[in-house]
This record gives sequence, C-alpha cells and structure tokens, in this order.
Amino acid sequence: MTDPKRLILRRPDDWHVHLRDGAMLDAVTAYTARQFRRAIVMPNLTPPITTVAAAQAYRDRIRAAAAGTAFTPLMTLYLTDDADPAEIEAGHAAGIFTAAKLYPANATTNSAHGVTDVRNIRAALETMQRIGMPLLIHGEVTDPDVDIFDREKVFIDRVFTTLLRDFPALKMVFEHITTRDAAEFVAATGPNVAATITPQHLHINRNAIFAGGLRPHFYCLPVAKREEHRLAVRRAAVSGSPKFFLGTDSAPHAVERKESGCGCAGIFNAPYAIESYAAVFDEEGALDRLEAFASEHGARFYGLPLNEDRIVLERSPAPVPDSLPAADTRLVPFHAGETLAWRYVGPA
Ligand code: NCD
Ligand code: ZN
Repeated sequence: MTDPKRLILRRPDDWHVHLRDGAMLDAVTAYTARQFRRAIVMPNLTPPITTVAAAQAYRDRIRAAAAGTAFTPLMTLYLTDDADPAEIEAGHAAGIFTAAKLYPANATTNSAHGVTDVRNIRAALETMQRIGMPLLIHGEVTDPDVDIFDREKVFIDRVFTTLLRDFPALKMVFEHITTRDAAEFVAATGPNVAATITPQHLHINRNAIFAGGLRPHFYCLPVAKREEHRLAVRRAAVSGSPKFFLGTDSAPHAVERKESGCGCAGIFNAPYAIESYAAVFDEEGALDRLEAFASEHGARFYGLPLNEDRIVLERSPAPVPDSLPAADTRLVPFHAGETLAWRYVGPA
C-alpha cells in the first residue's frame, strides 16, 4: 500500500452477479472470471432456479463457460411462495446452494415468480436460520402506489424490520443498497445483517439517468437515488465496516433491449468492475480499505476462506470502450467512453 502507483490486493469476489444463460452466459462469464475468484450467481433466469437439479445444471453451464479459469460460481436458489424447506436444506447440505434470493414478486427483471408475501416462506426462512444459510434480499416493495425512489426505504419499514424481529439469527444480505436509510439500517443491526454495494450506486445519482436526455444505460434497479444517498452509500463502502462488501449486480442486457421504448433495468459493469471501485476508494482517500471491502468482508460474512492469490492494479489510464460484442449483439458497459484512473493488470 506504500506505492500509490500500484496496488496488490487479495483477489476479490463478486457477491452479486447476473451471468444469464446460453450465448450471453458464454459471452459475459469471462469478464467476471478475469477479476474475481468466486461469485454469487443470481437465479433469475427464465424459468428461475428453484430446484437443486436446476442449480446443478446451471453451475455446470457456468463452469463450462469459465473453462480454463479458476473461477468458482456459488449458486443461489430463487425463493417462491411454495419454496420447499427440504429442497433448500438438501441443496445447502450438498454444497449446491450457497444462499437463497428473495425477490418480492415483480420487483425487477424476471421476478414474476417471486414471493408475494414473506409470510408464505416462513418455513423456508426457519430452516435457513437453523442451518446458517444466508437470505439475499432484493429490498424494494412492489406496491405501485409507493414512489419508485421510496421503495427501498419503505421495504425497510414494512418488511425488513419484521424479518429481523421474526428471524433474529438469520443471516441476511441487503443487496445493492442505494439509500442512506439502508446504509444506516444495516450499520445499526447485528453481525448477521450485511449489505452489498454496486459500482454504479457509488458513482451516479439519479440525475445521470436524465442528463441531457434519457440515458437507459444508467437505469438499473434499485434505481439510483439523490446525491445525499449516493454519499451515504459511499461512506458505508469506505468505512471499513465488515458489514459492507462488493457485489457488482452486473446485469447485462442486449443494447437493443436497453435502448427501447420500455428499456430493461440493469447495468453491465463486469468488464471494469474492480477499476470502478478503485476509482471510488481513491477519490475517498481510502485505497487502503479497498482490499477489505473487495476481498475479505464478503467471504467472512459467508463463512468462506479468503482467496490466497493476489491481483495487481496500477494507476494508469483504463479507457472503457463504447460497447462490447456479446452473443449476436452488443453490450454497453458501465463507464462506456470514459477513462478510469486505475487499471487491472492481472494476477500478481
Ligand atoms: C437485474 C437483472 O437484469 O437481472 N437488473 C437490475 O437492474 N439490477 C435484476 C436485479 O438484480 O434487480
Ligand atoms: Zn441483481
């Protein structure tokens, strides 16, 4: 850490990523595998991953897409109203399911099968609490009467507090937090509650979506909030608290699905993920805390060993292309057309 031109970090893990399936899986997995040793892979495929067999088959497809690398996909179960506690327990015991994901029904991309009321999954949550399996939470209410910018805060009040009360020992990750409310809520809870933070919610506020016109490539869910919230999320990320860790939420959508009359939510940030986080920690004068955020806090929360190998970042220009080829289309990466100040060099 003494040389500000070069950083050597324990290899990071991505605790929240969408790798998709089929040709898109084959196109995007290498970007994640290049920087990260492990990743928590989201289960929101069509159809969603709700069984051990489906997760095992998906893991095989990811391993094939990452062949020749040391990348380890960690699989998640997509919770539905009729989630089977026995299937969850068996899948966790067999090392197939690392965690389970709670999508409130219709909160985001491919979440139509999500949970309509957490009371419907009590038995599953009791099992998870007993076996120490983390619950990963998309923390937004879906009530159309709630303003989209308030949905995370209202989720805390209406759902998360109830979960904490009813399952006080359940490990929970508040995924991709975007508000001061979420950052403060997580900081005030016990060690069984943590949060992931994306690059975009550290870099942009909601103005970015409307700068000079509608900017679909800055649209993701939860949607970026006002500046005071971005600053609070930044403070949490660089605070050194073990409750906050890296989760990119990299969510590729073909360019024509983004630039559309009804554009998909999701930002594809995998290609320059660690560079994007490094820029933030540098701006905050906190480069000495990047390694803990990127490579230690998440593994400790999940009860997994730290990676032993290291990566090198150097302070030299990293120009981000306007788009990248993927499957039979193109993807627009986060920071497209910008030049980032830190560059991922490779293994140490
Ligand atoms: C994700 C996707 O596209 O799968 N989109 C997003 O905006 N983050 C779904 C999600 O994580 O909400
Ligand atoms: Zn996501």
